[in-house]
Amino acid sequence: MSWVFAYGSLIWRPGFDVAERRVGYIEGWRRRFWQGSTDHRGTPEAPGRVVTLESSQNARCWGLALRLPTADSARIMRELDVREQGGYELVPVTVRDPSGGSLAAVTYVAPAGNPNWLGPAAIDDIAAQVADAVGPSGANRHYVDALAAALAELDLSDDHVEAVATAVSASREA
Ligand code: BEZ
Repeated sequence: MSWVFAYGSLIWRPGFDVAERRVGYIEGWRRRFWQGSTDHRGTPEAPGRVVTLESSQNARCWGLALRLPTADSARIMRELDVREQGGYELVPVTVRDPSGGSLAAVTYVAPAGNPNWLGPAAIDDIAAQVADAVGPSGANRHYVDALAAALAELDLSDDHVEAVATAVSASREA
């Protein structure tokens, strides 16, 4: 059985048929807007910022485990590899749920040093970059809003995403 752990746009826009969804978390990783987007939410001249996972002891990243339909899983993984080619690599993870269950999955991680890596920045600087960036998939601020809304809809909280979303809305009002 093939499971993909979604922590970013795959939560609200998987772009493929999902056989089953389970809320869960992975340990030792945290979600951060450290990855540049030159092909979806920005351009090479003005990259946007999207999430990746950063290894962090004692951290948990909550998201959604998506089960791929068995007959289509190889095709879907090939398509995802193309969609996420801007520096992301597949990493095996264990997705856990609050009642003690676990399942083996893969997820996409853009590691430090990849060609689109931007790395840590102050929340206000991230928000200013997000507020200005637009790419073929739309405005970077819509990505941030959609991620914050999707996590809230699942009743999941993420301080970093909430801080960036709040700073982006503040910069819109300023
Ligand atoms: C995700 O939604 O899990 C995801 C985030 C970044 C790249 C690929 C997928």
